[in-house]
Amino acid sequence: MSQFLEAMAFRHACKQFDTEKQIPSEAFESMLDVARTSPSSFGMEPWRLIVVRDPKLRKALKSSCWNQGQITECSELVIFTTDNDIVRSDSPYVRKMFERRGMSSEMVDTYLGVYKNYLSPIEADEELLENWTAKQCYIALANMMTYAATLEIDSCPIEGFDKEGVEAILDLDYGRSVAVICAFGYRVNPQSEQKRLELQQIVEYR
Ligand SMILES: Cc1cc2nc3c(=O)[nH]c(=O)nc-3n(C[C@H](O)[C@H](O)[C@H](O)COP(=O)(O)O)c2cc1C
Repeated sequence: MSQFLEAMAFRHACKQFDTEKQIPSEAFESMLDVARTSPSSFGMEPWRLIVVRDPKLRKALKSSCWNQGQITECSELVIFTTDNDIVRSDSPYVRKMFERRGMSSEMVDTYLGVYKNYLSPIEADEELLENWTAKQCYIALANMMTYAATLEIDSCPIEGFDKEGVEAILDLDYGRSVAVICAFGYRVNPQSEQKRLELQQIVEYR
């Protein structure tokens, strides 16, 4: 079996982490780098990751995360936040992100026009904008979890949290929001059996 498929079989939503086992820093750095190099719409990389190591902060967060034990028990806790203001179509950041591709200024202007056209209805509504940037985070999250599994590192994606509560505890700057959370570490219990629909239930050919 390919290493990727082995990782897909190894990964499960780990409910209880071994509090005695820490992810080696080199491995964790490489996991963060997998998030960093993930693809994003228009290459805007709207994700900003917060690694929470402070036990007091973790304890406070747990109360806004449905009291899930993974928050305090995991080795590394990653909060995927987004910077929604910088991706607005009139932001200098957006221009820079296109300019870094080494295009002519005419080409940059063309890209900016297409981007503005695409984003206008989205950025008109703060919630839609947050959803758009959050979608990018889920790609980085998935890559990170599967890569971690290749290193036999477990994970639990966490959407079970009170968004406003977590954002208040993290005291995020204006324009920043929390997309999703992920706990990483090592399992205590054997993984549960993987339950999935069959291919014919989810795929149709036309
Ligand atoms: C976006 C997302 C959010 C999730 N949030 C939680 C969560 O808050 N707490 C939890 O224990 N599991 C959470 N899960 C895990 C799912 O329940 C789990 O992936 C699913 O039941 C399939 O099980 P498996 O991943 O072990 O194969 C989440 C999964 C995803 C993809």
